[in-house]
Amino acid sequence: MKLIYQQMIGMLTTIIVSLLVVAALFIHATTAAAWENNFRQLSNYTSNLEQNALLNKSTINGDFIQTSERVLSGQHVNFVIYNANNQMRYPAVAGGRIQSKYWRQLKRGDSVAVKAATTNPRNGRTQSITIFYRPVFYSGKLLYVIAAYEPVEAIQSTISKTKRSVLIGFIISAAVALILSYIIARYTNRRIDRLRTATHEVAQGNYDVKLETTGRDEISELASDFSNMTDSLKASEKEIQRQEDRRRQFMADAAHEMRTPLTTINGLLEGLAYDAIPEESKAKSIELMQNETKRLIRIVNENLDYEKIRTNQIILQRQTFNAKHDIDNVALQLHQKAVDAGDEISVDVPDDLMVYADHDRFVQIIFNIMQNAIQFTQNGHIRVTGQHGYQQAEFSISDDGIGMSPDQVQNIWERYYKADPSRKNTKYGESGLGLAIVHQLVAQHGGTIDVQSELGAGTTFHITFPDEQTPDDDQSHDQTA
Ligand SMILES: Nc1ncnc2c1ncn2[C@@H]1O[C@H](COP(=O)(O)OP(=O)(O)OP(=O)(O)O)[C@@H](O)[C@H]1O
Ligand SMILES: [Mg+2]
Repeated sequence: MKLIYQQMIGMLTTIIVSLLVVAALFIHATTAAAWENNFRQLSNYTSNLEQNALLNKSTINGDFIQTSERVLSGQHVNFVIYNANNQMRYPAVAGGRIQSKYWRQLKRGDSVAVKAATTNPRNGRTQSITIFYRPVFYSGKLLYVIAAYEPVEAIQSTISKTKRSVLIGFIISAAVALILSYIIARYTNRRIDRLRTATHEVAQGNYDVKLETTGRDEISELASDFSNMTDSLKASEKEIQRQEDRRRQFMADAAHEMRTPLTTINGLLEGLAYDAIPEESKAKSIELMQNETKRLIRIVNENLDYEKIRTNQIILQRQTFNAKHDIDNVALQLHQKAVDAGDEISVDVPDDLMVYADHDRFVQIIFNIMQNAIQFTQNGHIRVTGQHGYQQAEFSISDDGIGMSPDQVQNIWERYYKADPSRKNTKYGESGLGLAIVHQLVAQHGGTIDVQSELGAGTTFHITFPDEQTPDDDQSHDQTA
């Protein structure tokens, strides 16, 4: 069943049940009041007659009764008088007696009110009446009983008028309730429908749906949650797309990187096979092939290394050791390359600077960055500094080489990225994997690496390695926390 009908049925049932209960109680109360009113009136009339009788030395004055009946003729009230022996004395026609169960009550001194069907003693017709019997005592002796009766038609017409009004009221209220519940249910349903349409849109891949989220009820909250959901879906879709692009780029780059040495080797092999290479160049060709093969192996190894680091497959053997010694070593290893490029290396690291890292990986990181610095600096200066900061060892490697633009800086951590393809320098490798690996390695150490660079002015890398956390450190940490 449609939600709109469910809601309407729910609302209508509540309203109609409440209306019915109210109407029933109202009719019941009005009916009871009408009957009570009627008996009170009859009681008053009999009381009047009694007063009059007492004034007349306890005798019933027939004229007074007739006058009273005439006055009350509009209301069809009539009187009957019974003597102490339950015999009808007025009106002067032969008539019935009071039923013995009522008579016993009357003799005890209680008034009795009865609804009854009776034969009118005057015209012999049967009718529904209300009778009120009032016993009159004198010196403790029952003298007679005054009865006043009235046909019930008057009361019943009042009651049925009330019932009719209640029915009309009921119908009007039910109609209004029906219309209102329809409007309310429709309003809610429209909002749900809007959500449904939005869901369909999202299912079709359109994340740009806009939903009204201004209200404060549950549907508005749902709409707002929905909007948040589409926002994050949109974000993750973008991220997936980015990853996909990167993957595609990676495949293309990897293929390209490997093809270059393979093409060289293939060309040389063909030359050798067809004896196209002069005898004196053969040794040089073989050396070239060896170099290219080495490069290929290096690319494959570095790729494997990168993947291992990236997927947390390497285990760092961390220890605290003297950094100065290793940096001096790297500088020594790169000395010839620096001389070739006309560069000068200066190391400004305190003799006792300790660093907590995997020894080989630390050397790999410093080596890579220094090698880059030499690679991209001609006739310049490369400066390595180190110091101990707050719970970490800090290093910087700066050069005054060609530098990078902000755009280039953004991408250097990506695999196979080369800020400028013309920067290739086969002497030092050109796979574009160095910084990607360095970045992953530093992250694995829990350290940070960032770069400042200006095109044409030079580049500075900052690296930090956190110190080993001793149990004492943990405790002092806990206490301050
Ligand atoms: N000190 C620097 N000065 C200017 N550009 C730099 C510097 N260091 C890195 N770059 C730029 O960042 C790119 C990425 O460096 P990365 O070390 O990852 O690759 P690569 O040196 O080209 O190749 P390899 O994998 O052999 O190291 C470089 O190609 C270069 O364009
Ligand atoms: Mg490099």
